[in-house]
Formats: sequence, structure tokens, C-alpha cells
Amino acid sequence: MALLPVLIAPDPRLKIKAKPVEAVDDTIRCLMDDMLETMYANDGMGLAATQVGVNKRVVVIDLNAGDDNLKPKVMKLANPEVLWASPETLVDFESCISVPDQQGAVERSAKVKIRYLDESNTPKELEADGLLAVCIQHEIDHLDGILYIDHLSRLKREIILRKLLKARKMRL
Ligand code: NI
Repeated sequence: MALLPVLIAPDPRLKIKAKPVEAVDDTIRCLMDDMLETMYANDGMGLAATQVGVNKRVVVIDLNAGDDNLKPKVMKLANPEVLWASPETLVDFESCISVPDQQGAVERSAKVKIRYLDESNTPKELEADGLLAVCIQHEIDHLDGILYIDHLSRLKREIILRKLLKARKMRL
């Protein structure tokens, strides 16, 4: 496994729409493992391939990441697709490895039904609610070049982006 460099907003590569995976083969499985390691190293609970500069529709999620008392709940998804999203919504604070040290309240569907390929290339369907539904929608957004800050008001988004640029300057 290997740690991958994570793109930080406003990197234009985060705006690229990712291409479907033809099949989940050893190359994709290796990418999924590297992404998982990168996600844990950055204290995240989800990561999309777009965030590591790979133009493929691949996502990894572990909702129990960051809590050593809980067993890992690893999900590896290729070509995740929303089949149905509830009209009922929920608002929750989201953060993102590509938008470090920031958070914002985003309104999402409270429940979603998705289809995806698992790590054995088997088609699966899943119904999710609560945090998992939020996380899935956040990660699929990444594959479409959308960040959670794109759902915030323009003012809030600009404040966050200004903070990120300032932090980057301080690192140089
Ligand atoms: Ni994110």
C-alpha cells in the first residue's frame, strides 16, 4: 500500500468529472487500498479518487474511522450511482480532506438508494440513511467535480477558500 498526495481546494483537478471504471480488477483494488490508507492518514471517513488526482469513479468509506474502540466498517465502491434519493432532507456539518480545517452545514437527502460495483466487481445495491447517506452523497459529488463548499452560500464558500489560500501561503 502507498500514501497518495491529496489535492487541496481550489485545485482545478477537483472540478474534473471522473470516468466510470470498466471493471474492478487488481489495479482498481490496489487503488482502493491506497486510498483507504491515505484516508486514514488524513483522519477522514471517506475519500474519492478525484481527491488523489485519479480520474476514476472510485470511493472508499469507513464511518468508524477515527474511533479506535469501533471495528472498521470499510466500504469500497466503484461506479456508485444514486438510484433514488428521498425528498426529505437533513442538514449536517461536513468537512473534507481537500478542504482542511474547515466545516460547513450542508442539506442533503436523508435517505438514498445506490448501485455500485464492490471490490470483487459484483454489482450491489444499498439503502443508506443518516451519516452514511450524507457521506455517500458527499463522495459521489467529488466524482462529479463538486465539493461540499459548492453547496454553501457564495459568501461562506469565499470565506473558506480565502482561509485555504492563506494557509497555503503560510506553508510556502
Ligand atoms: Ni470530501
